Amino acid sequence: MGERIAAAAAALDGVEVRAVADANPVSRARIAERFGAAAHASWEALVEGGEVDALYVGLPNHLHADAAVAAAEAGLHLLVDKPLCTTLADADRVLAAAARADVRLMVGFSHRFHVELATAKRMLAAGELGDPVLAVDTIVDSAPAGPAWYWDPAAGGGVVQLQMHHSFDRLAWLLGSPVVQVQASVHERPVGDGPAVDVAAAVTLTFANGAVGTSAASFVTGYDGDGIVELAIQGTHGHVRIETWQAIEAQTARFAFDQRQRRDDWLGAELGEFAAAIRERRDPSVSGEDGRRALRVALAALESARTGAAVDVTP
Ligand SMILES: NC(=O)c1ccc[n+]([C@@H]2O[C@H](COP(=O)([O-])OP(=O)(O)OC[C@H]3O[C@@H](n4cnc5c(N)ncnc54)[C@H](O)[C@@H]3O)[C@@H](O)[C@H]2O)c1
Repeated sequence: MGERIAAAAAALDGVEVRAVADANPVSRARIAERFGAAAHASWEALVEGGEVDALYVGLPNHLHADAAVAAAEAGLHLLVDKPLCTTLADADRVLAAAARADVRLMVGFSHRFHVELATAKRMLAAGELGDPVLAVDTIVDSAPAGPAWYWDPAAGGGVVQLQMHHSFDRLAWLLGSPVVQVQASVHERPVGDGPAVDVAAAVTLTFANGAVGTSAASFVTGYDGDGIVELAIQGTHGHVRIETWQAIEAQTARFAFDQRQRRDDWLGAELGEFAAAIRERRDPSVSGEDGRRALRVALAALESARTGAAVDVTP
């Protein structure tokens, strides 16, 4: 992800990729050469290096918090990829460090920058679907292989921490209402030599505005498929169906349309928002609080799967 983010950042006016850090010497050398940047072997060396005034954190999930806190303390603005981090105590540390240092903190909820999701958000915010009553979100993913930490619960792996933050964030954002209750089941199995880990989860959500939803996700390694990322939302006056990265279909009392995109530079839009927030000294449209909210729902889902009970997450 780091290399893709660096490419999107380098394409922006007035932004340069000055330094990269990667523990892997091959990727480090390749990325540094591609962008003419300084290369560091650790995030600590990058933070101390003084070459940059903003940092993207694309480390394994359990390493986000320490890197983000140290970078904030060094005065660097922060784009932290999702999940913000893996515990609520760490989320509080990151938010407090960013506030103390008065640096911008954005979480990489990239789905919000996809054109079909932005269209749905505009329609819902304008009331064109009426009051939301139901949201059904599905993320089905596969990879022939992947970094071992993806399937290590201690590193913030497993489908809930790795994939479902996108769903928890986009549902609350689209419905304009936080999740207040979570009930979940997970399927666990070892992947490779690792311990048993959640590779599939089915989560039932209740939102503060009374709407209900389901979020289901799975991530396996037995084949390399295209993935299915689909979302349906119904309100009292209409519904939308979204194929993330592909299309949106809407039907309301007033109109019906299908929109299929040909191009969508969503990563450029995400990086553009981060750069604009820094320049304009304002909060980015995706905040650290949004990252903490999604984390709270994810941890509640894992707790519910363990105990069998619904978990209250009223803000
Ligand atoms: N927004 C999205 O759609 C999206 C998509 C994929 C991944 N992600 C997120 O991006 C982050 C990175 O995921 P990835 O798929 O690129 O994982 P990855 O394992 O490919 O990359 C992580 C990199 O961190 C490096 N690293 C590990 N420890 C380090 C250290 N101490 N100092 C410096 N470098 C170190 C590794 O060498 C590796 O290159 C994760 O948080 C993941 O959840 C987000």
